[in-house]
Amino acid sequence: MKAQSRYVCQSCGDAFVRWEGQCRSCGSWNSLVETLVRPSTRSARAATGGAGRGGSSAPPVALAEIGDAAVPRIGIGIGEVDRVLGGGLVPGSLILVGGEPGIGKSTLVLQIAAGLARSAADGGSTVVYATGEESAAQVALRATRLGLTRGVAGQSIRVVAESEVGRIVEIARTERPGLVVVDSIQTMSVEELDGPAGSVGQVRESALRLMELAKGDGVAVVLVGHVTKDGSIAGPKTLEHLVDAVLTLEGERYASLRLLRATKNRFGSTEEVGVFEMGETGLGELADPARAFLGAGPAGAPGSVVVPTLEGSRPLLIEIQALVASTSYGTPRRMASGLDPNRLALLIAVLGRRAGIDLASHDVYMNVAGGLSVDEPALDLPIAIALASSLRDQTVRSGTVAVGEVGLLGELRSVTGLERRLREAARLGFGRAIVPVAASSVSPPEITGLEVVGVATLGDALAVAFDATRSVAPTGWRA
Ligand code: TYD
Ligand code: MG
Repeated sequence: MKAQSRYVCQSCGDAFVRWEGQCRSCGSWNSLVETLVRPSTRSARAATGGAGRGGSSAPPVALAEIGDAAVPRIGIGIGEVDRVLGGGLVPGSLILVGGEPGIGKSTLVLQIAAGLARSAADGGSTVVYATGEESAAQVALRATRLGLTRGVAGQSIRVVAESEVGRIVEIARTERPGLVVVDSIQTMSVEELDGPAGSVGQVRESALRLMELAKGDGVAVVLVGHVTKDGSIAGPKTLEHLVDAVLTLEGERYASLRLLRATKNRFGSTEEVGVFEMGETGLGELADPARAFLGAGPAGAPGSVVVPTLEGSRPLLIEIQALVASTSYGTPRRMASGLDPNRLALLIAVLGRRAGIDLASHDVYMNVAGGLSVDEPALDLPIAIALASSLRDQTVRSGTVAVGEVGLLGELRSVTGLERRLREAARLGFGRAIVPVAASSVSPPEITGLEVVGVATLGDALAVAFDATRSVAPTGWRA
């Protein structure tokens, strides 16, 4: 068995029989990963997935002749999950569900399993749920809580407490399920490798085997993966490249809202998000997701600004919160949670130089309410306004939303999907929006019930944000 594995350097590709801290060929540190030596290049190629089964023998086909054979999909019946997947589960696809421990991954995959069992009930499709983290009894306990032990799901979901991938593949080949769930990939190992479960070599080889199962037998495979502190899915990047889709579950562990995002999807858009609420009986869908992440609502406190963000085609209103406090000692602190810290540093600099808001001797804490993480330039202006609002201890006029990218000169740039964002803000009862004035002659969105104030610079935007009395003409648009 041992003879089959080698320690391959990830920088130069040289292989060694034993693990060493430093590669003897190129000198890189910690670059050796235990890898299984495959008997022939042909099967190795099949295993890396590109060509799939017998890929090398199929003749090339003209693009036009391939046609638009629609990707077959099985609807899971959970609207928010189907939305993120791009319309349902694709047979033969390998999907990674990532998230921090305790966020609800096991709950989600069990609900997906149940959804599939129900929707494919007539076809007699079953689910194999392999758990390496919990006992079968623990999975059953969760299923009882979710109300899934009776009915179709109770019959169709087969649980196996197993962490050797070879066995799981064997079970899957005899049971012939429509879906195999593996919870989690970090607890899986293949017997041919010596390394412990969770090591890069084991994670990669386990995932490769499960991919062969997915592609070869046309069964969908869902892997659960823990996310490490720095946000990457452990068992590094190799896993993300290998799978067809990466779904991440985010949120604050002790709050109830969860966001499911596709960060990679070979069968659909990576822009759609699903919004859930963790309740007593698992993850539930919300009646009005756009409103879900809004903290205190339109009447804010100093440092709070509401932003109409756009997640794919879905507008979400979120609240940005800033706390500015004078630095008592040493270098001022800058903390950003759910936001890009570099962007925050840049905005602090722009505020200082272009708008006279000096934060050089202040600590800055910034976050997005609800444990969300948002990364779009449209957040610049709201962040800047929130900082100014906290520093001055002055609230932004109530019922106001703001959106816009800020340039180094303090100029404002327009954002995508402005109209869609503003419509949603109006629908949720906001009365005023501060937006970048279009440099070109784009016609201003006219939205009933919403006063749209176009501004060209950061300075102007701040003046508008804190002006509670003056009514700014909504015709601030340049022709
Ligand atoms: P879990 O799915 O086990 O998280 P993960 O697999 O990502 O580690 O769920 C974690 C939390 O969710 C746990 O603290 C309990 C809570 N929970 C609910 O609030 N409601 C429920 O119906 C279930 C099943 C779990
Ligand atoms: Mg779990």
